[in-house]
Amino acid sequence: MNKEIESLWKGSSEPLLKALHILTRDGNLNADSRRKLKQVHHLVQLIEPFLQRTLKNRSKLHVTDFGAGKSYLGFLLYDLILRSIPDARLTSIELRDELVQKSKQLALESGFDRMDFVSSSIESARLPNPSDVVCALHACDTATDDAILFGIRENAHAFALVPCCQAEISSQLDLIRDSEKHPLFRHPLHRREFGSHLTNVVRGLFLNSKGYAVTVTELVGWEHSMKNELILAERKSTPDHPESVRAREALAKLLQEYKISPKLAHDL
Ligand SMILES: C[S@@+](CC[C@H](N)C(=O)[O-])C[C@H]1O[C@@H](n2cnc3c(N)ncnc32)[C@H](O)[C@@H]1O
Repeated sequence: MNKEIESLWKGSSEPLLKALHILTRDGNLNADSRRKLKQVHHLVQLIEPFLQRTLKNRSKLHVTDFGAGKSYLGFLLYDLILRSIPDARLTSIELRDELVQKSKQLALESGFDRMDFVSSSIESARLPNPSDVVCALHACDTATDDAILFGIRENAHAFALVPCCQAEISSQLDLIRDSEKHPLFRHPLHRREFGSHLTNVVRGLFLNSKGYAVTVTELVGWEHSMKNELILAERKSTPDHPESVRAREALAKLLQEYKISPKLAHDL
């Protein structure tokens, strides 16, 4: 491996590096892969403390990666951290069966025997073990919300979410444009950006309302990806704690103010 690859790839498995198409045929890193690798490495480092804290209260650890695609994040999390934790498992959930089959094969070849791959939508996925830590990296549109709802149902300890494009709320904002001609929403680009912003505000408040402490930051520098907002959440209290109740009230007010009804908040 050349020096640049060594500095970016901390994993144990060179076949994995090749199979994930991080290397070009001549053994160099391609530009897109360099960006993705930096992003995923950084995310793995940020997730690690959650894994350690979860393990303080439980003997077993189950991490679930929703909208996994080629399971890039799952493979790195497993290779760098979970592989050396005996009772840790990782499940990747992905809609596209051809990606799931390829990942299964790659895990087999790499000897990663505590990785499971489920070909399913997030909404209809049924897993044998509850998810302690929920990850969703660039899960499309409302798939991030499906991952949040899944984790809430299972009382997950923590969430690491890097949302992707989001259309649900910006399409609801169209109603505002037609009915009120609000300057904030006149241009489609502004509606989309504002819709994304509002979507992530709703996600943060929703998690707060369920008893999670939430931080929102950039994952890596903006030059690496436009889809770069990182939402980390860790369970600290319960939905009936006064702070959670205040968050639920703030969320209800926000939804009313912008006349939006995202799926995430349907059970409010
Ligand atoms: C933009 S890709 C990101 C993949 C991967 N997490 C990564 O960062 O490389 C989003 C993936 O989510 C999957 N996906 C979208 N909606 C989904 C759903 N409702 N349930 C399961 N998978 C979904 C898509 O098939 C796609 O592979």
